[in-house]
Amino acid sequence: MARPFPVLLKSVDLWYTLLWRMCITPVRGGSAGGLGLVGPNWEVQVSKATMLRNVPLFAGLSDQALEDLASSLGRRTFAKGMIIFHKGSPGQTMYVVESGKVRIFTLSETGQEVTLNVYGPGDVFGEFSLLDGLPRSAGAVAMERTVTRTLHRDHFFQHLEASPSMAKSIIEVLTARLRFTTEHAESLAFLDVYGRVAMRLVDLAGRYGTEKDGIELDLHLTQAELATWVAATRESVNKVLGTFRDQGLIAVEGQKITILDLEGLERRIVY
Ligand code: CMP
Repeated sequence: MARPFPVLLKSVDLWYTLLWRMCITPVRGGSAGGLGLVGPNWEVQVSKATMLRNVPLFAGLSDQALEDLASSLGRRTFAKGMIIFHKGSPGQTMYVVESGKVRIFTLSETGQEVTLNVYGPGDVFGEFSLLDGLPRSAGAVAMERTVTRTLHRDHFFQHLEASPSMAKSIIEVLTARLRFTTEHAESLAFLDVYGRVAMRLVDLAGRYGTEKDGIELDLHLTQAELATWVAATRESVNKVLGTFRDQGLIAVEGQKITILDLEGLERRIVY
């Protein structure tokens, strides 16, 4: 279906808010309400564009470029625990997390797992294979119900040619990833297990924490998974968390960790 108002749609967010309230919701609900100008297909286009506006990778794009990009996106939803892809599988697609969380991991031949990172709303993953055409460098698993938008490499390169600002943004994404990996390698080499766990908690608090009597981290990250991220056993992570709890730095309730003293945790990260 052709998109209505292609020229007038300069401020996607404003139109989105107005039209969602005035006519899209009734159309979606199947009632006869609304203006009758828009259909479900356009609803998807606009909500995708609105979502993309909050993705740092696409921050420099014009409204029109963003809309064009939105029309190339697919959508995939993963239930908690579902493997999105395995390391070594062919990959032509990059994923943008719309909601939920994804854990990136590798497995050794003997089944030992290493967690590389956790991504949430606004983050992208799968960009390596999209860029170089090689198999997936790591696996990805949904930590909770996760909705993603997918971008095929052919479309990505088309948009890259049309919008040079995207080249700058993808370089920034890759540089951030390299910096993160360098810091992580340093932490494994120079910090004890207390420092490594503290570093991950401080990092996760900054990215995904919500202020609620402290900084709440409800990531569905098990202690065993956290252990695979800090190169420790589950038992030692459990001991570290117990020590931090006794020291009043954190509170632990099942998989939920609340950071009570962020500065105190930061003081544990001593190189
Ligand atoms: P790709 O290789 O296509 O699929 C696996 C994805 O995991 C990869 O793209 C990146 O998005 C992500 N990834 C790979 N290695 C790392 C790493 N060391 N740190 C963070 N993310 C990674």
